Amino acid sequence: MNWQEVQNKARQKINPEVCRVCPVCNGVVCRGKLPGMGGVGTGASFVKNYQALAEYKLNLHTLHDVTEPRMSVEIFGKRLAVPVILGAVAGVKTNRLDNCITEEDLAESWLLGAKMGETLAMTGDGPDPSLYAVAIEASKKNPGIAIPIIKPRPQEEILTRIKEAEEAGAVAVGIDIDAAALIHNVSGLTCEPKTIDKIIELVESTHLPFVLKGIMTVEDAETAYQAGVKAIVVSNHGGRALDHCPGTAEVLPDIAQAVGDKMTVLVDGAIRTGIDVLKCLALGAHGVLVGRPPTIAAIGGGAEGIKAMLDYFKADLRKAMILTGTKDVQKVSKSILYNF
Ligand SMILES: Cc1cc2nc3c(=O)[nH]c(=O)nc-3n(C[C@H](O)[C@H](O)[C@H](O)COP(=O)(O)O)c2cc1C
Repeated sequence: MNWQEVQNKARQKINPEVCRVCPVCNGVVCRGKLPGMGGVGTGASFVKNYQALAEYKLNLHTLHDVTEPRMSVEIFGKRLAVPVILGAVAGVKTNRLDNCITEEDLAESWLLGAKMGETLAMTGDGPDPSLYAVAIEASKKNPGIAIPIIKPRPQEEILTRIKEAEEAGAVAVGIDIDAAALIHNVSGLTCEPKTIDKIIELVESTHLPFVLKGIMTVEDAETAYQAGVKAIVVSNHGGRALDHCPGTAEVLPDIAQAVGDKMTVLVDGAIRTGIDVLKCLALGAHGVLVGRPPTIAAIGGGAEGIKAMLDYFKADLRKAMILTGTKDVQKVSKSILYNF
């Protein structure tokens, strides 16, 4: 099965009210469909993620000797075949995907698909404590792959979950700080923004590299660095946290310039092709995350579906590297961008 066939399968399964598996997954049709797969409110942040990336154009450059571009990269001490990590996704029931996949199948496909594609997988968390538990169980079956991302809960609850991540053989662990305003009345989950002291407490509680997901300003990136955070994800939660955010590709260059030589800078938001990956690397990221594509892939074809999606990204990235004269994903020149 190739990526196209996997998407066709998923289209037959997913409730079209939730996601149409559009040929271009850009947040337009699913505007405001949250719970679901869309962006929050007007959907502007998701749409902007897509548009911001699309705005950057590439210089087609072919008079060179690059025939076998190097696509592998080391992140958190692990060698990845491509700098594409599965983003944190959880909550099939709350997101109205439970007619086509179970939480267990999603988590298991996530971890196994990442392993088959020789990459890493972030996993999610949510108001229902079973979501994090399911991801931890899947991580135990595939140690050395998972990066559990915990909601910005009260400190004690995070500390307990960090220990669970360590015991499950996680590669790194972190929190999605952009979920700071999440309150869930039924479960009693109350998330909170974190001061630098609270981040330091979390960082110092574990031997694992600590990740802050949901950074959109240079100021927060520098605070994260000062707190000892090892990696940030430039992210607006796929446009699902705050309406009317800039696109991640707009804020990435300044953030990468400020902290990119001191810590790992990852980015997500409407990254759909190998070309998008290459653009993000040219803008200063060390690697990218994808959220909706692997969700659709898991529904359409389980772990094999995710592998097919990753194979597509890899083939597209290889082509884009050859056609821009890029030898190595770790040394992508800004000059490949026409308008930067
Ligand atoms: C259905 C769904 C569930 C998600 N659940 C989580 C989660 O539990 N934790 C988290 O940090 N991010 C979560 N995200 C956000 C993703 O990790 C990621 O930031 C976003 O999807 C990236 O944008 P993209 O989907 O356009 O690639 C979720 C996204 C979707 C679509």
